[in-house]
Formats: sequence, C-alpha cells, structure tokens
Amino acid sequence: MTNTAPVSARRDLSESPLLVAARGGAPSRTPVWFMRQAGRSLPEYRQVREGTPMLQACLTPELACEVTLQPVRRHGVDAAILFSDIVVPLYAAGVDLDIVPGTGPVVANPVRTAADVAALPLLRPEQVEPVADTIRLLTAELGDTPLIGFAGAPFTLASYLVEGGPSRNHERTKALMHSEPEVWHALLDRLATITGEFLRLQVEAGVDAVQLFDSWAGALSERDYREFVLPHSTRVLAAVADAGVPRIHFGVGTGELLPAMREAGADVVGVDWRIPLDEAARRLRAARPEGPEPVVQGNLDPALLFAGWPVLEREVRRIVEEGRAAGGHIFNLGHGVLPQTDPEVVTRVADLVHSLS
Ligand code: CP3
Repeated sequence: MTNTAPVSARRDLSESPLLVAARGGAPSRTPVWFMRQAGRSLPEYRQVREGTPMLQACLTPELACEVTLQPVRRHGVDAAILFSDIVVPLYAAGVDLDIVPGTGPVVANPVRTAADVAALPLLRPEQVEPVADTIRLLTAELGDTPLIGFAGAPFTLASYLVEGGPSRNHERTKALMHSEPEVWHALLDRLATITGEFLRLQVEAGVDAVQLFDSWAGALSERDYREFVLPHSTRVLAAVADAGVPRIHFGVGTGELLPAMREAGADVVGVDWRIPLDEAARRLRAARPEGPEPVVQGNLDPALLFAGWPVLEREVRRIVEEGRAAGGHIFNLGHGVLPQTDPEVVTRVADLVHSLS
C-alpha cells in the first residue's frame, strides 16, 4: 500500500497555515503544533507502543505512521511531525546505541578520539528506507495537513556520541571541542554529512518542512557556537536549501544564539520560554535588517500545561500577542510535551490559539 507518488505529485498545501507562516506570508489562522506531540502523553500511543522498543517502533512504517497521526486526530494541530528520533540515522548506519526509557539515547562506545571518528559509519539511503516508507504512508493519509521531517543537528548528536548518553554539563563534549579542535571538526563534519543526507531523503520521500533540532546548543557561548558548530549546521541546512521546503531551526536556551542560528540558513527560528517572541524577533531582525522579516516558533513553557486553565489561558493569549508583535509566528511549546501532560489540556491550547486568530 505504499504510495510511490513522485515529489512532483505533492499535495496542494498552498493554503496550509503552517507553510504560509513559515514562508513569511499571512496565514488564515495562527498555526499551532507541539514538539513531542506524539508520545507518552497519549494513552493511544502507550497502547500501540506496548512491547515494541522505541527504535524498532521508529523503523516500523505502519506503527510510526499511526503514532504520527494520533496527535493530528486528537488535537487538530496544523502539522504532523514524523515519529522518529534524532539518533535514528546513527542507529540505522550501524552505531551501537539504544534509547533507554526514562533516560534517552545511550551509546555503547563513546566517540572521543580521531580513530573513533574515522570509524563512524556514513549513512546509506537503503538503511533508512523504513523512514521513507513511513513518510509515503503519511502523505497518503494526511489530507491537507503538512508533514514536518526532522533531524538532530551535529552538535546535539555529537553530545550524545561523546558523552555516551544524556549530559547535564556536556563536559566531555566541550573538552574535546577545545582541546582537539581537528577531531571535533572531523566529527561534526561527518555528522553534518549524515544529517544533511537524512533530511534530503525525507524531503524526497515527501515531507513538507524540516526542523533541525539543536536542542543542547544553548549550552554554548555565542563565540564557541560560531566557531565550533555554525559551519556544520550551515552545511546541513544548505543540503535542503534548494528543496523548496521551509527549514525550522530550534534549540533550548538559545536567546544569545538566535541570530547565529538564523544565519545557519533557517527560515523559522524556534525559541524557548526564556525570551519573549517579540524580543527574539527584534534580535533576529537587528542581525539582518536587510533580510526577510523573521518568523519565530514557540514558546509556551511545557511546565505551564500543569498550571491550571486560568494561568494557561493568560499565557497563551500573551504569547499569541507577542507573536503578532514579532511578525511571523508559529505557535508551539518552548520544548517538548512532558510525558505526564493531560492531553485534553493540549487540545484546549490548540483550540484557544485557533480561536484567537
Ligand atoms: O515531536 C514528536 O512528536 C516526534 C517525535 C520525536 C521523538 N524524539 C520521539 C521520542 C522527536 C522530534 C524527537 C527528537 C529528539 N530526541 C530530541 C530533540 C528534541 C528535544 O526534545 O530536545 C532529542 C534531544 C532526543 C533524544 C531523546 N530521545 C530523549 C531525550 C528521549 C527521552 C527519553 C525518555 O524516555 O524520557 C528520547 C526518547 C523518545 N523520543 C521518546 C519519544 C516519544 C520516548 C520513548 C518512549 O516513548 O518509549
């Protein structure tokens, strides 16, 4: 039942609020979707995932397709995001890693030397064919809802590879970056190649936008970001520059990095709750006054989904207003939906955002 329609037979999504906003136009309503909208907050997710390890689920097209569709059905969001994970291309290429429930990605043999970097496999397209199959299933099912593909940015992937797992301080990663810059750049170069190819493959299979997650880039100073990360993220985003799909670039705690993240080649910059959207837009505009008007995505604190409706309603209204002042705005959280979140509250937020526009 795979739909092998070529990219030329793409759906007509010219009125999609998400895509119109991402391209700097005036959408018919403020688009809204939620990072980690699929996943443990949904009982229907927990039910279909029962007994299937995370990475296996990501590489099983029918299951990944169903899980991607669940939040679209339930919340009425303006985009689906492919059910996958940032470590999927590394795993598919042969890196020995697992996603441990409650912890995150864990790498069996951390990458810390020039020899480790040289031994990192590149990605062959057939290794992620299940991801392309999932995308083809989804584009046949999604009607007029666009599908966002994604990848992890080189720095965030490198942090998992170098630390061997999730890290609060990224100390080994920063130590490698500063003490052995050639090894560092070789590692990020390789990751940029893998990530760029993985995004291209998703676009060829039919995704309508891409998001590059550099979740942990906010751990860096702007100086270090520019020297050690920006050239590589730029290469990733350049790999899909001519693909005709908007590129969203997101990180947590990146208030000081926003202009640099836009320079990497982003059409939309994702922002967390630490900085108001209008201030984020001001920084993006100031860095490139002659460029197109900035488009921002965000930035409700996911913790506030637990704060009760009066607080939440006030916050959503504030963010929608700050988004108007920013210019282009895609409503989202400032980071992913937390597993204990009440999904009915998430639906209510989506409805409120829509009713305000
Ligand atoms: O947004 C979506 O709905 C699409 C799915 C998605 C997942 N991971 C599924 C997932 C996306 C976009 C990601 C990206 C991802 N993965 C990032 C970048 C976004 C961010 O949150 O900053 C990062 C850093 C990872 C690495 C990772 N994978 C972590 C930290 C975890 C959580 C570990 C845990 O159990 O708390 C994962 C696992 C993961 N990825 C889950 C899901 C639904 C949970 C696993 C499960 O349901 O068993």
